[in-house]
Amino acid sequence: MTQILAIETSCDETAAAVVVDGQVIRSNVVASQIEIHRRYGGVFPEVASRQHILTIGPVVQDAMAQAGATWNDLDAVAVTYGPGLAGSLLVGVNAAKGIALALGRPLIGVNHLEGHLYSNWLITDGEPPVPRFPALCLIASGGHTELVLVRDHLDYAVLGRTQDDAAGEVFDKVARLLGLGYPGGPVIEKAAERGDPAAFDLPRARLRGTWDFSFSGLKTAVLRIVQRYTDKVQTPADALEAQLPLLSSLPVADLAASFQRAVVDALVEKTCQAAEHYDVAEILLAGGVSANRLLRHEIALRAQRPVRIPPLWLCTDNAAMIGAAAHYHFIAGRVDSLDLDILPNLRL
Ligand code: KG4
Ligand code: ZN
Repeated sequence: MTQILAIETSCDETAAAVVVDGQVIRSNVVASQIEIHRRYGGVFPEVASRQHILTIGPVVQDAMAQAGATWNDLDAVAVTYGPGLAGSLLVGVNAAKGIALALGRPLIGVNHLEGHLYSNWLITDGEPPVPRFPALCLIASGGHTELVLVRDHLDYAVLGRTQDDAAGEVFDKVARLLGLGYPGGPVIEKAAERGDPAAFDLPRARLRGTWDFSFSGLKTAVLRIVQRYTDKVQTPADALEAQLPLLSSLPVADLAASFQRAVVDALVEKTCQAAEHYDVAEILLAGGVSANRLLRHEIALRAQRPVRIPPLWLCTDNAAMIGAAAHYHFIAGRVDSLDLDILPNLRL
């Protein structure tokens, strides 16, 4: 049995978890900074790192207490070392180093995206999930949109990624354009409930011949429509700068529904095509955007392969997923030394 304390501070959640054998969640504590960043309309990096400093100690202590674990029960300490915001990553990595050093246990650096992938291995309803290889994983989050072929544990090939905005990022930007607030995914999803997804014919960048995605054309198309309803904005940059006092005639629900449909179409179409092309055993979803109900519904409907999606609370950032990935590093003997450094631009 391996018992790992995992820490995740790559963006705006301070999180710690204790995970056994990469599957059993003994505790999973997430302190969200959403309320703090909401007033800025997005994550403010300096504020995020200061908040992590304040929260990391209590969050780790909570995770240990809820797990009923003593420090001596731990076999290793895992932490996200990239990609993410430098100041935020530093807080988690330094905390993990301190604990690993004090306990004389190995330190394991985990790629945040690998963590999202491994959220599919965590037990949530009693039955241990056993994803089969090769699997295709769509990782869609605020910073990334990657289509990954997973040949085996720790053996990945990135088939494609976004050429511009990440899927979550475009949800966040369009939510600001529509005056809906932050974070964009949940507020757009809510607004879209009352809207007609066929109200606006928005572009889907198809990017034939690659497994890459592109969302900037879609974002600009939404902006152009918003501009028709307000003369206050001229360019995408102006629009994002301006705190938009939008005219009340803007059909927010219809635009939100049409936009959501366009993003989901693009993600589902490419993922299903790649799954057939690579003849995978199953499709996995991961990352904050996979909390989206339309995406979850459409992929299950259109995929010709089994689809596995973590529950909503494991789609967004958490430390249990980092503990799951770390288990496979640990049993493969892949541990890090105390000079592990952060890598804000780390790739999978
Ligand atoms: O994985 P995550 O929690 O953090 C990153 O690693 O970035 O993803 C956050 C992103 C945000 O952009 C947020 O708007 C998006 O996930 N998101 C959603 C939903 N919930 C969160 N996007 C669409 N629909 C949702 N329900
Ligand atoms: Zn994430």
